[in-house]
Amino acid sequence: MAQVTSNHSLARERHMTKLKQVSRDWSFPEPEQLGCHFQWTASDRFLQHVLCSLACACVYHEWMKSAELQQLTASEPLTLEQEYDMQRSWREDADKCTFIILDKRRWTDSGSEEAQCMIGDVNFFLSDPEDLSLAELEIMIAEPDYRGKGIGKEVTQMMMHYGVAKLGINKFQAKIGLDNEVSISMFKKLHFHQVSVCQVFKEVTLETTVDESLRRRLLRQVGHMTERDYLAARGGRRQAASQAATGAPA
Ligand SMILES: CC(C)(COP(=O)(O)OP(=O)(O)OC[C@H]1O[C@@H](n2cnc3c(N)ncnc32)[C@H](O)[C@@H]1OP(=O)(O)O)[C@@H](O)C(=O)NCCC(=O)NCCS
Repeated sequence: MAQVTSNHSLARERHMTKLKQVSRDWSFPEPEQLGCHFQWTASDRFLQHVLCSLACACVYHEWMKSAELQQLTASEPLTLEQEYDMQRSWREDADKCTFIILDKRRWTDSGSEEAQCMIGDVNFFLSDPEDLSLAELEIMIAEPDYRGKGIGKEVTQMMMHYGVAKLGINKFQAKIGLDNEVSISMFKKLHFHQVSVCQVFKEVTLETTVDESLRRRLLRQVGHMTERDYLAARGGRRQAASQAATGAPA
C-alpha cells in the first residue's frame, strides 16, 4: 500500500484527499475511532482482518524501507505522514478494500502486540468508476521469511472469494512488474492470463473473469474457512493477556 508510481496508482491517489490530524499512537485504535466494519477470516496458519489502523502505518513505513519491496511492488517509500494518509484512504474510501495478514501463531499468543503479528496485506480497489465489478488486486507478503510457503496464493484466493461473494466482483486484474516472476507465476497458477504489457511502466496486466468454474475453485479452496467478528476475538485476546498479566485464572 505504499505509493505506487505506475499508472494504476493514479485512481488511488485521486482519493487521497483527507488530511486530518495525525496520531502517532502505535497501539491499534478503538472501533469508534475507526468507523469501519470489521471481520476476519481464518485459515489454520494465519488470519486476515480488515482493520487498517494507525499502527499499520508505522509497520508499513518500516517495511517500505526495503529496496527489494519497493522494486517488487513498484512503490516509493512514503514519509510517515503520507503513510498515515494512505492508510486512511484505504480505510475510508468506498472503492477500496484491504485485509491485513496476521500470523495466527503469533496472534494466538496474547503476549504479542497486534502490530507485531502483521506479515503483509492483500487488497483490491475498484479501478474503473464505470464498472464497479472490476477489481484490481494487490498482494504483499512483506516479511521475507513468510514468502514461498503458500500464503500468497491462499490469501489471494481468500480475497477473491470475499470480493465475489460480498461485493459482486466479476473480473479481477493484477498489474505486475515484468521482472516479478514470482508474482506473475502465482497469478497464472490462479488462472489469470495476460491481457497486455506496458513497456513504459514495465508491467504486465493479468486478468481473470469470474465464471462458474472459478467460483467452484474458490469455494473448494477457501469455503471451509471461518469468518468471525474480529472485535469479539480481539476482546477475548485482550482479556487473556490481562489475565496472564495479573495471574488470574482463565
Ligand atoms: C509474490 C508473492 C505475493 C507470492 O506469495 P508467496 O506466499 O511468496 O507465494 P506462494 O508460496 O503462495 O506461491 C505461489 C506461487 O508463486 C510462485 N513462487 C513462489 N515462490 C517462488 C520462487 N521462489 N520462485 C519462483 N516461483 C515462486 C509459484 O508459482 C507458486 O506456486 P506453487 O507453489 O504452486 O509452485 C510474495 O512473494 C510477495 O509478496 N513478494 C513481495 C511483494 C510482491 O512481489 N508483491 C506482488 C506485487 S504485484
